[in-house]
Amino acid sequence: MQLREMTENDLPQVLELQRELAFQDWNEKQFLSEIHASYAFCVICEDACGVVDSRSRLLGYAIFHLLGPDSELLSIATRQSVQRKGIGTLLLNAGLDKLTERDDQCFLEVRDGNTKARRFYEKHGFTLYNVRKKYYTDGEDAALYKYSKAETSSKQNSSAIESSQNGHDKP
Ligand SMILES: CC(C)(COP(=O)(O)OP(=O)(O)OC[C@H]1O[C@@H](n2cnc3c(N)ncnc32)[C@H](O)[C@@H]1OP(=O)(O)O)[C@@H](O)C(=O)NCCC(=O)NCCS
Repeated sequence: MQLREMTENDLPQVLELQRELAFQDWNEKQFLSEIHASYAFCVICEDACGVVDSRSRLLGYAIFHLLGPDSELLSIATRQSVQRKGIGTLLLNAGLDKLTERDDQCFLEVRDGNTKARRFYEKHGFTLYNVRKKYYTDGEDAALYKYSKAETSSKQNSSAIESSQNGHDKP
């Protein structure tokens, strides 16, 4: 399994994955403009050893806009057959690792009813900060999430302190 930047050659597989999951409907032109945008980070995860099925070795992809202190996660998806195996986490962390300054944040919006994705984001330190009513064309609300590098590192530090203290308390 390997992570690498998305190229134009990956687009047939990326479009196929998007169709398989039916969670958004970007066309080829939209993906192309992301690949060529200087501020975009488009990453894929693929099975480097062989094919996942007869058509594709793509396991997932993510697209971020890295915009200084306020970055954005535009899209993330993993193949249905390999979900819940940590691939989404690898892709997400590849983007979050690019937030280098303490005050950097990453924003995203997700369908209110997309519980799977919401649990995923919450597990990785994103917090809900607003709801945009009837944001999507079918009338569904958008849940707006924010990841703050400073808050996440300070939570990680305090849980590390807590677990080391718990460790000392053990008989
Ligand atoms: C959201 C998505 C990218 C997660 O990818 P993934 O490869 O399954 O992610 P991971 O295996 O790294 O999951 C990590 C955590 O996310 C949460 N999670 C993932 N799938 C979940 C589910 N079906 N139900 C509840 N929590 C879930 C869990 O906390 C999980 O940790 P755990 O398995 O230890 O409990 C994937 O489900 C997906 O592609 N969904 C369809 C596309 C989509 O909706 N994208 C987001 C909108 S842009």
